[in-house]
Amino acid sequence: MTPLLTAEAVTVRYGSLAALDGVDLRVALGQRHALIGPNGAGKTTLLDVLAGATRPAAGRVRLAGRDVTRLGPAARARRGVGRIHQRPAVWGSLTARENVLVAALPRAVRTGRWHPAARRRAAGRTADALLARVGLGDLAAVPAGQLAHGQRRQVEIAVALAGRPRLLLLDEPAAGLSAAEVGWLVEFLRGLPRAVAVLLVEHRLDLVYALCDTVTVLRDGRTLAAGSPAEIRASGPVREAYAEGMT
Ligand SMILES: Nc1ncnc2c1ncn2[C@@H]1O[C@H](COP(=O)(O)OP(=O)(O)O)[C@@H](O)[C@H]1O
Ligand SMILES: [Mg+2]
Repeated sequence: MTPLLTAEAVTVRYGSLAALDGVDLRVALGQRHALIGPNGAGKTTLLDVLAGATRPAAGRVRLAGRDVTRLGPAARARRGVGRIHQRPAVWGSLTARENVLVAALPRAVRTGRWHPAARRRAAGRTADALLARVGLGDLAAVPAGQLAHGQRRQVEIAVALAGRPRLLLLDEPAAGLSAAEVGWLVEFLRGLPRAVAVLLVEHRLDLVYALCDTVTVLRDGRTLAAGSPAEIRASGPVREAYAEGMT
């Protein structure tokens, strides 16, 4: 397997607590990889490390073979890491379209459109296409703060895709969504091109099994198991962790 992303022996400490304690993770190109584990296991902390929002006390993060451990979130985003937060992170006072536009502009610059008007037009086309793709075309002009939770989630997905990620990090994206919205989300993620690898933190195992080909289980900041869904289901330590209440 060609690794797109590797985390090697990543440790994060908050005071005396090791939120992550020597965690290894490999995500292959185009892989659908789930990260599961009980509350407090370190899942969000690991996404923070992979996105560059938290600098680990020890360990390395490599993206396409390159050491990116010391790069912050903006530099990681430029290298193709997109992120969906546990709570939708959108600008409430900006419209849905403006949120996506802001995310699409840097790419319009990088692709060589130097004239400001040309950049805005290119980013505008990207934003309109992405809003249509997430089903928000009709709500493009509504301030994101006035949208329902599920719609803000859709805006955030469009924002993340505007950066053309090679890796999409999703932190419990189904939380707070209605059954219909969860159905939409699953279909949307299934429809993502394989050029985009997905690392999905999700406590709903039905979604994990519907979407992912590889599962890593974290517990108390350590990797408990990693393998195919079938291997994980059969794993003794994982069943024990479930018996204690996997959330
Ligand atoms: N900013 C922080 N300061 C102190 N402790 C934190 C911080 N962020 C997370 N933690 C602690 O680190 C552990 C892992 O948290 P987190 O990564 O949010 O777990 P998960 O997402 O798996 O529920 C928990 O014990 C949590 O309380
Ligand atoms: Mg979390």
